Amino acid sequence: FGTMEINSEGHLEIGGCDSVSLASEYGTPLYIVDEKNIRNRCRIYKESFTSESLQTEVIYASKAFLNIAMCKLIANEGLSLDVVSGGELYTAIKADFPRQKIYFHGNNKLESELYMAVENNVGRIIIDNVNEFKVLSTITKNIGAKVEVLLRVNPGIEAYTHEYISTTKSDSKFGESIFADGIYDFIKEINDDPNISFKGLHSHIGSQIFEEGSFLEQATVMLKFIKSLNNKIGVQVNELNLGGGFGIYYTESDDPIDLPSFFERLLSEIDEQSNLLGIIPPKVLIEPGRSIVANAGTTLYKVGSTKTTYSGKNYVFVDGSMADNIRPALYGAKHEFCLANRMNDKAEKDFAITGKCCESGDILGKSFKLAKPNRGDLVAVSSTGAYNYSMASNYNRLTKPAVVFVKDGKAKIVVRRETYEDIIKNDVDIEG
Ligand code: LLP
Repeated sequence: FGTMEINSEGHLEIGGCDSVSLASEYGTPLYIVDEKNIRNRCRIYKESFTSESLQTEVIYASKAFLNIAMCKLIANEGLSLDVVSGGELYTAIKADFPRQKIYFHGNNKLESELYMAVENNVGRIIIDNVNEFKVLSTITKNIGAKVEVLLRVNPGIEAYTHEYISTTKSDSKFGESIFADGIYDFIKEINDDPNISFKGLHSHIGSQIFEEGSFLEQATVMLKFIKSLNNKIGVQVNELNLGGGFGIYYTESDDPIDLPSFFERLLSEIDEQSNLLGIIPPKVLIEPGRSIVANAGTTLYKVGSTKTTYSGKNYVFVDGSMADNIRPALYGAKHEFCLANRMNDKAEKDFAITGKCCESGDILGKSFKLAKPNRGDLVAVSSTGAYNYSMASNYNRLTKPAVVFVKDGKAKIVVRRETYEDIIKNDVDIEG
């Protein structure tokens, strides 16, 4: 079960903390985040995404998991930050994240968000489309600001992953296609704008990708496009951001990429191909989200009831739901499960692990072998660090769980559990 340990009482231990004690101190459902695991991942990226001949930068894609404590951790590890909304940007600003290391993304940035990014002097704005460029151009002119931008393009690479998280098929909503009529004129227009400094290109081909070949192909297509921009309109591309998407282990069927050896190959191919094409090798940037945080997270639930249907299906009901982990319901995502307070008990039967929400799609695990759970037992779900807390909702007016960071046997709360008061705090009583 992930990188976790079993202690002498047969309990799951994470970051040196007994999960049973965590449950009694902080309640359930609980997102437990192993701080060292995240720091190690950051270090693997920082140390291995380097090359003697190329400049590189690692940006954490904060949509995977963000709060003030996480911003501070990322700043402390020296990574940059990708934000995609005013809310993410606001969090980064409140955490005093270095502004110049913020990359502002999004396919439909509001005018107010663009103002916020410009006024806060973020490092890069990643322009998604022609309309957005025009709005940004007007804003910068009006307030006399200068901004540095990348343009998000779609290189048309098919990456094999879930349809909802694949981003560069030709009909994707993200970026402008490198094959579109007018793409050269558009880039020339950005490059000629007096308030906007065109730094380079961005593309992101999808998420939870295992094929190294997809990333290599992406890099090749992008370098060729850079060359043609050079030739056709004399525009210099200094930065090439290849996005995120590096797949991670959830269950045995996943085969994650070995990052250090892959990056060595990727960066040396970029260097080599740039030389062959006769272009100045761009600085290369990547934006991992999931692969920084997913394995560091565990969700802890308490068992309410179990049930065996007339047809013989075994259910275990936990006190969380699709509201704190939408991924199985939305993408058919898989996780591993265990009974955190009975780690040494033999798994004997298949159980469907399901939550409290009023719908049959509220499945956390379709079928997983466990010892027969009793009321009050704790179910732990592995690898829930990415896109769980960040995608949580209040469906059925459930309160969002707390988040605790654990390290060296100590736990600290980084997001408080929501209360019923939080649930109604924006409701307006029209009678009152
Ligand atoms: N950069 C851009 C522009 C992105 O759109 C994304 C993810 C990333 C970086 C980070 O990708 P990662 O390294 O995390 O794969 N909610 C889905 C994943 C959506 C990913 C959206 N964009 C899930 O739970 O699987």
